[in-house]
Amino acid sequence: MDAIHCIESRMSIRGFKKEPVPRELLEQVITTASQSPSYKNSQPWEIMVVSGEKKQGLTNLLIELLESGTPSCPDLAEPESWPPSEQARISDLFAKRKELTGIDLTDPAIVIKAKKANFRFYGAPHGVFLYQEASLSQWSLFDLGLFAQSLMLAAHARGLGMVPQAFLTDYAQNVKQYLDIAPTKRLVLGLSVGYPDADSPANSFQTPRSPFSEIATFAE
Ligand SMILES: Cc1cc2nc3c(=O)[nH]c(=O)nc-3n(C[C@H](O)[C@H](O)[C@H](O)COP(=O)(O)O)c2cc1C
Repeated sequence: MDAIHCIESRMSIRGFKKEPVPRELLEQVITTASQSPSYKNSQPWEIMVVSGEKKQGLTNLLIELLESGTPSCPDLAEPESWPPSEQARISDLFAKRKELTGIDLTDPAIVIKAKKANFRFYGAPHGVFLYQEASLSQWSLFDLGLFAQSLMLAAHARGLGMVPQAFLTDYAQNVKQYLDIAPTKRLVLGLSVGYPDADSPANSFQTPRSPFSEIATFAE
């Protein structure tokens, strides 16, 4: 797949076929993503792929924590507020999603439902967690973000779908303990991966982007 087409056609996939992805294909995609650039080539990324009973056990644990009212405690704090231009884009996204799917993410009861769908990995056969030593600087978080985008693009180019999920880090300590990830690591992102279900209404919603003039400037 051409790189431009790959970047422009990637989207978050939230409806998956049950069919598992062969281990070799997952290994290939991760190996491709490891070509991402990083500060001084430090490569500050660690990846765990969760499948089968292990994944189901994690879903059960996360839903139990949510239902018991356990406060979330991600290693990267959830933003409490946003500057006006970013907030306007978020409000626009929520309004469009409500209009097209009826899902109102400003309603706390719907957010609980949405979190459960996240914790079920949207029905994907595999979950992926990205983490790194917590003592690393903010540059390493930046590097892990680059890795995440490469991973999603490599997956897309190989016919797979992914969605990045901050919600999967809500109970970071519990996830790390369950997956035997050292407590000295910070859990940065969870993602679902599998073959996209083209018939799923969840995959029919395409997010808009701000116009060029709003984001870029040429200084001469
Ligand atoms: C760091 C990060 C965290 C995200 N967390 C979630 C999440 O918890 N659940 C979810 O469904 N989507 C999540 N998303 C997906 C975004 O909603 C999505 O990327 C955005 O709306 C743009 O849509 P697109 O990915 O289809 O282009 C997250 C994306 C990023 C980059």
